[in-house]
Amino acid sequence: MGKIIESCFPYREVSRLARSELRNPRPYHHIHPWPGRLPGVLFRALILASLLKEGELDRFWRLLKTVKKVDVGRGMVFLDPFTGSGTSLVEALSLGMRVIGIDVNSVAWFIARSTLVPVRLLEVRKAALAVAEKVRPLAERLYATRVGTRVVEARAFFWVRTVHCENCGSEVQLFKTYKLARIRSRVWAYCPRCRVVFLTEDARELVCPRCGETLKSVSWGRFYRCPKCGHVGVVAEAARKSGRPGMELFAVMYRVGGEDRVKAADDWDLERYREAERLAKEVPEEFLRLELRYGEETSRVLSYGYRYVRELFNARQLVMLYALAEVIAELNGEARRLLALALSKTAAFSTVITPYTYVARKPESSFALHQYMFEKMYMEINALESVRGSFLNNVAHLLKAKHYVRKTVGCARVSTSIDNANVSLLVQPAQELKLSPNSVDLVVTDPPHFGNVINSGIADFHFAVLKPLLEEDFAEFRRESSCEDEEELVFDPIRGKDAGFYRQGLTKAFARAAAALKPEGLFVQVFRHREEKAWDVLRSALAEAGLEIIKEWPLDLENYPQPQARSRVKARSAVLVCRRAADIR
Ligand SMILES: C[S@@+](CC[C@H](N)C(=O)[O-])C[C@H]1O[C@@H](n2cnc3c(N)ncnc32)[C@H](O)[C@@H]1O
Ligand SMILES: [Zn+2]
Ligand SMILES: [Zn+2]
Repeated sequence: MGKIIESCFPYREVSRLARSELRNPRPYHHIHPWPGRLPGVLFRALILASLLKEGELDRFWRLLKTVKKVDVGRGMVFLDPFTGSGTSLVEALSLGMRVIGIDVNSVAWFIARSTLVPVRLLEVRKAALAVAEKVRPLAERLYATRVGTRVVEARAFFWVRTVHCENCGSEVQLFKTYKLARIRSRVWAYCPRCRVVFLTEDARELVCPRCGETLKSVSWGRFYRCPKCGHVGVVAEAARKSGRPGMELFAVMYRVGGEDRVKAADDWDLERYREAERLAKEVPEEFLRLELRYGEETSRVLSYGYRYVRELFNARQLVMLYALAEVIAELNGEARRLLALALSKTAAFSTVITPYTYVARKPESSFALHQYMFEKMYMEINALESVRGSFLNNVAHLLKAKHYVRKTVGCARVSTSIDNANVSLLVQPAQELKLSPNSVDLVVTDPPHFGNVINSGIADFHFAVLKPLLEEDFAEFRRESSCEDEEELVFDPIRGKDAGFYRQGLTKAFARAAAALKPEGLFVQVFRHREEKAWDVLRSALAEAGLEIIKEWPLDLENYPQPQARSRVKARSAVLVCRRAADIR
């Protein structure tokens, strides 16, 4: 009798579960963002369906929905040669298998390691509170804002970017909207002419209650319209001519009685920021000074004049990140390492390219679209606490995640070599993987999907934050960037990586993984792309690596974020189930 994955994989129901998990991810996905990760329930379903026979569907469903450690896979070895943040490993471990995870990127490796390594949660919690205690006086100073005669702590600041009009030279504030924060049916909004914030019914077009002006966007898509002379131009062009866009602080969000309010930024607020500018001069020059590589995912911000990770922060963001990093650096052991990861996540919510939605009144990760986007307006959060993305919020998510993993995985021993530990995590290109033949029972993997997501450029951002805190402990962080350019398998013509490069590397990696499989072992992978060309490349890599596709299951993951698919063509996702051609004959 064959396995479920070969004959009766319930792909429709599994797709439905995966979609729902994309909206509401498993707790360990909140440890740290890693672009392009798939839901845990999908991996769990693929692993279970590869272990269980077709007569065991009832057991499949029961175990799919379990969230504690079970031992269906006991004594078996699982391999994912493109592990990323380690989703597949968590699920394979919780099914009792021994796991081997490979990824070329040191940041991916560190996220997976942090997810799995056993730690004393109470100690991490205490360390986080001690860090906050030390940084709080600075935060209280820099985030103070005045409401009437009262001083309160700001939750967030609203900034608008500016360029010089290419026609008349006047400064243009790139307002794409004037709505800042919605409270039920009403919205806090800003009038740039009167420099006031007002609360009004949310409508498509807003009218300033003071000057009576209908507030029209100055900027939409790639364009701006100069309010002075009416000239319509391209923002990137204006930036090319007059340099990196400027920025202006115009509003502040704070909380009263549990409800968010917004006020216009006043002189007092500007003075707080000027103080941060003075302090920023004392932040050592080498802090976060990592060059942004030129590639598909960075080309946009590079064209706006950015060169280094450090330039993606305003003065106050830089000062706060540095203050946190300094205090975390004084800690030891796993507390330092896990808090470094929380800080790296805070950094991604604390840049001048941090988008926000006025409806949710909170920021998004700067890389939510898997790119360095240029934002015409950004939200600067209180980096220490009480807002999404702030350090203490991230720590809370981290502790919750670790708790969940402890419950589902038990005690993992994480090793950086292939030995008897139940988790082996290696940073290396999968093309160079060397495992003994006949040593792996199952491969389930989610390889780089052609040019969909380019991890290294985004991982470099996190690498810049993590490196000073980790390089003493881990050789993986002693290098110059998160991974070598030549080693990452991806389609990125900007970096000179064509379809041939991608196919050859993938072929080699697949062949290495296949060589380690036991004769009855399955090689299962997920792939997603909207272009047939990418599927052809993948199929030829599998065939050349000696793997034969014995079954293909469609997946419907429609809300999986995929920025490159800006065109309306829907990406096709599928599971390819393979065996070694030699074992079939
Ligand atoms: C689609 S992602 C996998 C995401 C993963 N399933 C997760 O849960 O995070 C593909 C991964 O392949 C890695 N990768 C790219 N080239 C590689 C190579 N040559 N060897 C090993 N890993 C590589 C990337 O760093 C990325 O983490
Ligand atoms: Zn003009
Ligand atoms: Zn007005």
